Amino acid sequence: MRQPLIAGNWKMNGTKASAEALLSGVIAGATAIAKAEIAVCPPFPFLSLGEQMLAGSTVRLGAQTVSTEPSGAYTGEVSAAMLAEFGCRYVICGHSERREYYGETDEIVAKKLSACLAQGLTPILCVGESLQQREQGQTETVIAGQIDGIVSRIGIDAFSRIEIAYEPIWAIGTGMTATPEQAQAVHVFIRQRIAGDSQAIAGKIRILYGGSMKAANARDLLSQPDIDGGLIGGASLVADDFLAICQAGD
Ligand code: G3P
Repeated sequence: MRQPLIAGNWKMNGTKASAEALLSGVIAGATAIAKAEIAVCPPFPFLSLGEQMLAGSTVRLGAQTVSTEPSGAYTGEVSAAMLAEFGCRYVICGHSERREYYGETDEIVAKKLSACLAQGLTPILCVGESLQQREQGQTETVIAGQIDGIVSRIGIDAFSRIEIAYEPIWAIGTGMTATPEQAQAVHVFIRQRIAGDSQAIAGKIRILYGGSMKAANARDLLSQPDIDGGLIGGASLVADDFLAICQAGD
């Protein structure tokens, strides 16, 4: 079956000292994690530190976004080639906070995915609905639109090298975690949507859950057959909390 992936999205948090301490804690604790694959996605300034400290450990390095462009006059941007050079394996693409605050459309997200794949990086494609959309019964319509918006631009075969994260916007940072049943239902829908184009890819693709996953609820979520891991925000900033989630994936 699919090996669980637990990825920590640090978002815009940390100092050099706290990043070093957090990385040390995760690296030390990762040796006790038997099954789950572990990744950490620090802010860009800490990638070099992450590369150095994670060398030789089982913990993978990731980034929280990437430029759509390969190089050039794009002030402030970071290219996929740079992320690859710093030892990144994963790149979060299309996080709801980037879609909301920085206007990332499906077209932009598709370009980011392509930029990652061109450099041998594994993108984590984020999809998810707002509370209003859920309350209006639009969850599947929204998710289908986000998935189709990418498939139509880069093709289904690319999904053999993509992870998906279902992150209900109303659960991100709110403590309002989706129930295991709610999350499982959307994960099944996503997998079936992918299966419509490729049964083989649908069976293999990992679908992570993100949105207030904590040590207390992780086991119930990760025990669902179509929840293949977690994309962790707040709880990834405390090594013991993050490792407890990783342990729940074992
Ligand atoms: O990308 C993961 C993040 O959006 C979830 O945040 O704090 O609800 O775990 P949090």
